[in-house]
Amino acid sequence: METITRIQVGGDQPYEVVMGDHVTFALPGFLKGAAKAAVIFTDSVSHDASHAVHELIDVGIEATPIEVPDAEAGKTLEVAGRCWDVLGAAGFTRSDAIVGVGGGALTDLAGFVAATWLRGVRWVPIATSINGMVDAAIGGKTAINIAAGKNLVGAFHPPAGVLCELSALRSLPQAQLNAGLAEVVKCGFIADPAILGLIGKPDALPELIERSIRVKADVVSQDLRESGLREILNYGHTLAHAIEKVEDYRWSHGHAVSVGLVYAAILGRLTGRPDFVEQTRSLLASLGLPTTYDGPWEKLRAAMAVDKKARGSSLRFVLLDDMAHPVTVTIEDEGLLAKAYEDLRA
Ligand code: GLY
Repeated sequence: METITRIQVGGDQPYEVVMGDHVTFALPGFLKGAAKAAVIFTDSVSHDASHAVHELIDVGIEATPIEVPDAEAGKTLEVAGRCWDVLGAAGFTRSDAIVGVGGGALTDLAGFVAATWLRGVRWVPIATSINGMVDAAIGGKTAINIAAGKNLVGAFHPPAGVLCELSALRSLPQAQLNAGLAEVVKCGFIADPAILGLIGKPDALPELIERSIRVKADVVSQDLRESGLREILNYGHTLAHAIEKVEDYRWSHGHAVSVGLVYAAILGRLTGRPDFVEQTRSLLASLGLPTTYDGPWEKLRAAMAVDKKARGSSLRFVLLDDMAHPVTVTIEDEGLLAKAYEDLRA
């Protein structure tokens, strides 16, 4: 029998994450009362999207499929605008809903369309990548990218429920799965060190994903709007988002996070905290992920200036006071930031 795991996300608008093989059966339960649902998807997951469409049709919900470009190419104002036009033409009302089928970029876009259509309609992400399952689909952050940076325009808009379609991972190349594990490694360092011991173990993937979902669910249950605790999920992301921008989104999020985790560990060491640099590097390297980067520091520093944790001209970083003890630290010493980057390049 197939294992289905249900994880609760708390807060003012609680919902359930359903994880397992063939989980689209749970979709109609999240959309009771909807007459119409748009299914936003990318070509690479058209199979999973058609399962979702059939589940909707079976319970009498009119399904409108909307195909959009894959990855960050889909997270644009132009693509969101095309989705709004389809919803307008189909007469979507406040009781109708959005379903997003795909990886993290797709569910960010679908959530953004849901958050903005009629100032907010119900939505359900069906995550088909590790990044989507352990991060993007959970916690109600929705966004598109603009020229100034990644995720700079968006809204907090919790979903009605989340589906994590594990069967979709089987068709992904190992390198792509490993890139998704960068976010899982992050969860290990910030909250659940047992994760770090499971990395690379055969058949550990479902447990790694479940543990990481529980880390994320626990954090966002306490702090949906990132007024404090939620910032810990940004461990490694300050440099990562800058790399993605400087590379014009040709670097995968997972690869950028991998480098960003090493940079954060180096910053921790340089600020007198416990030294997790070699542990971080060797774990990520064992997954074939990049642990160094060689772009121009000035460009990266400029990109980091619009990091959402920044306050005025000061950058704030999530560092580790100890294993599973993250803390947000303001670093004003520009020399230290540059030195950490030199160490990363070395
Ligand atoms: N991806 C970080 C967060 O959801 O807060």
